[in-house]
Amino acid sequence: SQIQDMSAEKVTKAKDMAFVFDIDGVLVHGDRLIPEGKRTLEILNGDNELGIKIPHIFLTNGSGKPEAPRCEQLSKILGNPISTEQFIQSHTPMSALAEYYKTVLIVGGEGYRCREVAEQYGFKDIVVPNDIVAWDPTIAPYRVFTAEERASSRPRDFSQTNIEAIMVFSDSRDYATDMQIIMDLLRSENGRLGTMAKDPVSQRIPIYFSQGDLLCPSEHWTPRMSQGAFRIGLEAMYRALTGVDLERVVYGKPELATYKYADEVIASWMEVIHNEEKLPKNIYMIGDNPASDIVGGNMYGWNTCLVRTGVYQGEGNDDDNPASVGVFPNVLEAIKTAIKREL
Ligand code: G3P
Ligand code: MG
Repeated sequence: SQIQDMSAEKVTKAKDMAFVFDIDGVLVHGDRLIPEGKRTLEILNGDNELGIKIPHIFLTNGSGKPEAPRCEQLSKILGNPISTEQFIQSHTPMSALAEYYKTVLIVGGEGYRCREVAEQYGFKDIVVPNDIVAWDPTIAPYRVFTAEERASSRPRDFSQTNIEAIMVFSDSRDYATDMQIIMDLLRSENGRLGTMAKDPVSQRIPIYFSQGDLLCPSEHWTPRMSQGAFRIGLEAMYRALTGVDLERVVYGKPELATYKYADEVIASWMEVIHNEEKLPKNIYMIGDNPASDIVGGNMYGWNTCLVRTGVYQGEGNDDDNPASVGVFPNVLEAIKTAIKREL
């Protein structure tokens, strides 16, 4: 019975901790499994000494696909079920914006997948840059617009439409076209193409970005520019053209709003797996990027573990944003240490 008491205490402690996983560079590289990721999830899904589920969610700056197919794909790669209810990608919290804006410009991503994402979030009237190019090709003078693209776009007379907000969901596949259209809209009267606002501030529509990463690792030998670089380009152009600074909202890690949203998701996931909606006390963020995962986790008061399977390749801890628990060769070592600390 002493043994029973001890394990009951451990179960209570196990429910009072939670893991928040970054995805790229921690569990997978693109579509390739990081082997320790699979074992990590097996342990947290119940293959541990207590035989219970240890709460965990996924918090990624990734984007460009609806949540359900992305979770399905990750479940396959990781060999463990991942539910959309424990999954946050960069644009997930932006679904709340559907209540405030009807007609929106959605920028970035492959094909029309971000249109699909916005539809699922409940946006009522979604415009993508191709719809505008199909209406007036002269808006993007260097763009080669294929017949296929024309056939799949939804042109209308945009001089008769007010676009109420601009939302960059994912990386732009055509900086020149996307930047030109965004700049035209930011300088227009209340988002109406074909107009130019007299006052650049009071008639300007808002712009939102799903995340702020400057760089993103890829197959190339050095990281490639990401949404943060695209935003900085836009800010510089806007400043040069209007003389005023561009106000904007950025989601994703390490922005505070995203961590607050994660708390809500952890609490409701607790309800799903343990029938009690509560926020565990000891939260561990496991990430590979000091400038996003770790700085955000530290600011928000979470424990942080840095792994060496992704962006970070340094010797000791990161100088600017040291992980509070430490640096680990991989995700499995990180969770083993955290579990040992808590139980
Ligand atoms: O930079 C975008 C994406 O690749 C980062 O994903 O999971 O490391 O936040 P993640
Ligand atoms: Mg990462």
